[in-house]
Amino acid sequence: MDSQQFKMNDAFTTTNSGNLTPAINGVEDEIIIRTVKLNKYFGDKHVLKDIDFEVRKREVVAVIGPSGSGKSTLIRCLNALEKATSGEIYIHGEKLNSSLSVKRLSPIRSELGMVFQNFNLFPHMTVIENIIEAPRLVRKMSKDQAIALGEKLLVKVGLSDKRDAYPNRLSGGQKQRVAIARALAMQPRALLFDEPTSALDPELVGEVLKVMKDLAYEGSTMVVVTHEMQFARDVSDRVVFMSDGSFIEQGDPEEIFKNPKEKRTQLFLERVLSVLP
Ligand SMILES: Nc1ncnc2c1ncn2[C@@H]1O[C@H](COP(=O)(O)OP(=O)(O)O)[C@@H](O)[C@H]1O
Ligand SMILES: [Mg+2]
Repeated sequence: MDSQQFKMNDAFTTTNSGNLTPAINGVEDEIIIRTVKLNKYFGDKHVLKDIDFEVRKREVVAVIGPSGSGKSTLIRCLNALEKATSGEIYIHGEKLNSSLSVKRLSPIRSELGMVFQNFNLFPHMTVIENIIEAPRLVRKMSKDQAIALGEKLLVKVGLSDKRDAYPNRLSGGQKQRVAIARALAMQPRALLFDEPTSALDPELVGEVLKVMKDLAYEGSTMVVVTHEMQFARDVSDRVVFMSDGSFIEQGDPEEIFKNPKEKRTQLFLERVLSVLP
């Protein structure tokens, strides 16, 4: 326990600048994502239980919790990749009703940019083609405009030199940075990340986290499902601990990491923080 305590305190002395995050990106009152009593069943398995979730403009929310607790399902419901069993989802005030036609659903979905664990790039398209596809199809952007935007985003993620490469020529970290650029190209109101660094070799995690950190500091609205506790602690405005389909505890990152109130949060953090380098 002593060494555990040391690790947690030690981590905090290095996060002073991180703790200023809320002041830097200035969370606003405007609600971008809201769920009301969201429930999801797979068969008779209750995977999301009465989830009330609000994400405000410029807020960075880290969602942490054990495997199988429903984190991915939550993110997928927000983006209508999964149909909620009951409850409501609002994206910037628009009710997301997954029984809407694809045509009616598409503009609401495009308000949220998704970044998946496994990148999901189109293998037969170059980097720039991957990035301009959705803006052209969904936003009806001209090719020139989309390319200009795509090139700007490649500068942002540090991959201008990979503009015409195919995904199979890229490292995992590079692929994920392209995936982030592709999500940004839709100019979404919020970005949803589902364990964006979990499939990466350890030495490639940092370059992706750096891009995400920059986005957070610029004031992007982000929901990040992550096992990167340092990132959750340093960069997020709020940490949500999820277990067994429920939000067990949420709040200020420093408070959650230093003084978790719920037993399940304590046990989870003890387990994951003890394996931190
Ligand atoms: N398509 C599916 N069909 C049946 N069960 C699923 C499906 N997707 C997820 N589950 C189950 O739902 C629970 C939550 O999964 P998931 O949202 O992936 O959790 P997490 O992302 O927190 O690891 C798990 O028990 C998982 O097995
Ligand atoms: Mg998951």
